[in-house]
Amino acid sequence: AMRVDAGSAGRRIPSTLFGVFFEEINHAGGGGLWAELVSNRGFESGGQNTPSNLAPWYAIGDDSQVWLESERSSCFERNPVALRMEVLREVEGGVGIANPGFWGMDIRAGNTYKVSLWIRSLDKVNLSIAFTSRDGTTTLAQSDLILDASEAEEWSKHEMVLEAFDTDHYARLALTSMHKRVLWLDQVSAMPEETYKGHGFRKELALMLEDLKPGFVRFPGGCYVEGGSLRNAWRWRDTVGPWEERPGHFGDKWNYWSDDGLGFFELLQLSEDLETLPVWVFNNGISHSDEVLPELLDPFIQDILDGIEFARGPMTSKWGRVREAMGHPEPFPLFYMAIGNEDCERQYYHANYLKFYYAIKEAYPDINLISNCDGTLKPLGHPADLFDFHIYTSANTLFSMVHKFNHVSRDGPKVFVSEYAVVKSDAGQGSFLAALAEAAFLIGIELNSDIVEMASYAPLFVNTNNRRWNPDAIVFDSWQQYGTPSYWMQHFFKMSNGAKLLPFAVESLNTSAVPVVLSAVRIEDGTSLVLKAVNYGQFPVEIRVSLEGVLSNEIDIFASTITVLSSESLMDENSFQNPHKVVPITSLFLSAATDMELSLPPYSIVALGLPLL
Ligand code: AHR
Repeated sequence: AMRVDAGSAGRRIPSTLFGVFFEEINHAGGGGLWAELVSNRGFESGGQNTPSNLAPWYAIGDDSQVWLESERSSCFERNPVALRMEVLREVEGGVGIANPGFWGMDIRAGNTYKVSLWIRSLDKVNLSIAFTSRDGTTTLAQSDLILDASEAEEWSKHEMVLEAFDTDHYARLALTSMHKRVLWLDQVSAMPEETYKGHGFRKELALMLEDLKPGFVRFPGGCYVEGGSLRNAWRWRDTVGPWEERPGHFGDKWNYWSDDGLGFFELLQLSEDLETLPVWVFNNGISHSDEVLPELLDPFIQDILDGIEFARGPMTSKWGRVREAMGHPEPFPLFYMAIGNEDCERQYYHANYLKFYYAIKEAYPDINLISNCDGTLKPLGHPADLFDFHIYTSANTLFSMVHKFNHVSRDGPKVFVSEYAVVKSDAGQGSFLAALAEAAFLIGIELNSDIVEMASYAPLFVNTNNRRWNPDAIVFDSWQQYGTPSYWMQHFFKMSNGAKLLPFAVESLNTSAVPVVLSAVRIEDGTSLVLKAVNYGQFPVEIRVSLEGVLSNEIDIFASTITVLSSESLMDENSFQNPHKVVPITSLFLSAATDMELSLPPYSIVALGLPLL
């Protein structure tokens, strides 16, 4: 039996408890959440020397009649490479270049797309701009850019909106000319006109995040922050300002080029659009292969202080002005920052950590600083507001960690479980079994939310064409997406942020023999109770639940619901073909009462929602 003290004031669960962790991994951002359709839009992906790398751009039409090369002739100082395209003779139907985007562009009839490009020519220009099928046989949307020679002689920007009259989920952008000419092209971008909150995020993916009601967004990594080497680490200042002037960089940890359209500003904007708080993980002078000596750290510290000023400095400050120019005069609420990622054991971590810690605390005492060292078993040995705890393991091990935080010292810093997941053979490419163990682990976190302040699953996204890490919560390609069971499992916890954890007692249920984990909360606005249970065992379990401190007629029986996530087989997964194979099913729970029987199916996650009248 479970006796819940529903009349108790309860203990407040931090509003930050369950959040999300966005890392640029698996093309999560470029070719994913960031709705830019063109890949390598500035022709810079091979670096700033020529010949640079034009791929994935390629010649189309009679390719013997077009000469393509990278040239350092751009009008952008920080992006010197442009494309020189020479059409060698008049060609009917035209010749030119195409960009397949990130494994195809999703172009849909009736939708509109904003294309912009920079161009120069010594002659008049008549350029066809079209979305076509991958093989070029079907035109889906088209527009012509016509300039006379005087208009074309200097670099100029042109923007147009193309409305698609046909659909192809794997389309390409084709720029062609029928006339013998030399054209220079640079910074070619294409975006759906409709994006999440108008800020450039792929709508369906952002809505899946919104649906989780995350308590924070941690970004942009992960290992991505560290870099395989320091020279390829993510540097916030290279990702802000006009997109044409962002140099982009090669993320050598996950091995792909990023145009950095989804930069520091956009990630702060994302957290605002999701009505949540940003958690910025910054490079602390340590990569996977090199480290900055503590005595050489000052410029790195200044760089991070400038980054904070960019995020939340006044408009009178240098970097606050840059933010204002990007359209956000108001400061972003940056109150959480992690000093590096998984670097505790590195030679200079402690020394570098302390330098960052004191410099940031002195200038911004209200920023909570997160250490990479694990303080669950022993004190950190340095000051911190929170410490990171990462766990990737088997289902049984994660289940056995339900009580992991019961004995963590309540006198030290708070815990941020910033990466957790069941991995390897238990996880498949996102199994129900993984979600089941993760749900039990999260109930353990909920029960320990006096010391655990934040938790996030990792990684969040995977583009199936570039699976660098498996499993992930949200799977997508150019046009479709689905949540793995681990994504849906998180829905059971979204009402917990800011809720009151209610005390309860368990009687005559031997939880060491019957693997059931339970919790009870009153949601933040006080309008309902939510009881959660994970049955990690193969047998059904019946639990008698009694609610004390509420009267039967205070429960809205006709609106009470039971939500169950279970599956025929533990290794069941969702897929593009069957995206809803393992999803929570909600039905009315007409037996709601202050004394009731709750049936937990074998291997199940269950939530009872009891609205109060
Ligand atoms: O989540 C994937 C990776 O796992 C992260 O980049 C890193 O922090 C961890 O090792």
